[in-house]
Amino acid sequence: MTAEIIDITREPQRAISAASRVLHEGLPVAIPTETVYGLAADATRADAISRIYETKGRPQFNPLICHVCDIEMAERYAVFDPVSRQLAETFWPGPLTIVLPLKKDSAIHPLATAGLETVGLRCPEGYASDLIRAFDRPLAAPSANTSGKISPTSARHVMDDLGAKLELIIDGGASPVGVESTIVRVDPDTGTILLLRPGGLAAADIARAAGRDLKRRAGPAAIIEAPGMLASHYAPGAAVRLDALSIEPGEALIRFGAAPVEGMEAAAIVLDLSPSSDLAQAAANLFEYLKRADASGAARIAVTPIPNEGLGEAINDRLARAAAPRDGEE
Ligand code: TXA
Ligand code: MG
Repeated sequence: MTAEIIDITREPQRAISAASRVLHEGLPVAIPTETVYGLAADATRADAISRIYETKGRPQFNPLICHVCDIEMAERYAVFDPVSRQLAETFWPGPLTIVLPLKKDSAIHPLATAGLETVGLRCPEGYASDLIRAFDRPLAAPSANTSGKISPTSARHVMDDLGAKLELIIDGGASPVGVESTIVRVDPDTGTILLLRPGGLAAADIARAAGRDLKRRAGPAAIIEAPGMLASHYAPGAAVRLDALSIEPGEALIRFGAAPVEGMEAAAIVLDLSPSSDLAQAAANLFEYLKRADASGAARIAVTPIPNEGLGEAINDRLARAAAPRDGEE
């Protein structure tokens, strides 16, 4: 089997109808979202969710983010406290996942939540929301890549990795945000917002909207509180060396900003995440450039320091995972 690719701009109606048909068969379909491409399946069906794990080659069942088309749909499955509701009203549709208590009679299958009493819900933008509205059920969707590999930000990435295992890939162009959604959970008693995963929505934007600072865990990628977030996620084939100020011959270089890097003439390839030092642009380019640096054949990828503010927090989190020891990898 080789997946069919349907381009949203060329065939907008068929992009919805063909994807709905695959979902109704209980099979996963790769779809574009503003963050990364997702491997989506009916979140209410055990067989459909099992296919996601099988396709990704994930050895264990982790809780998956369930995608809805609006707050009304979210309320069919989960209970909102006032702070979570305000965050959803402010930032949905968008790159924010909110972990909420499941309703008692929720139709979301326990395989999607790994049997937890909570569910991570996100309302994506554009095509993904249109598809969910047409399908009228939530879609469980992790990133559309083999477990442990870099997340895909184009239909081509998905095709190269999973094309032989899928029926259908929907092509919506390059993912504009480029890193996965920010995940938060609110303590309903205190209103404290816990940042479970930095991502495509800057923590400072959430803090500003909520009028309170977020609580963080110690150090980027240090302790993994959100289940299923292994340190060695997002691993390219090459080794990754962070905070590089100079580079060694034969290394691939990923830099941030146009300043020259000592030794860069001898680099296997030089990729600039953002010549103008724009963190949103850097996030959008991150996974594509990690893949390109990997494809250069260099044994190691050196990455220059990236400011840990705004979207830099998510970029540094993903880079720390890419550089983490590979033992015990998923
Ligand atoms: O941007 C994104 O979020 C992408 C696109 C496709 O929407 N999706 C994505 O989904 O990254 P996924 O399923 O790979 O995210 C799973 C992670 C888990 O590893 C865990 O960290 C967190 O979401 N998560 C999900 N449900 C949770 C829950 N009930 N409690 C705590 N963390 C949860
Ligand atoms: Mg992933």
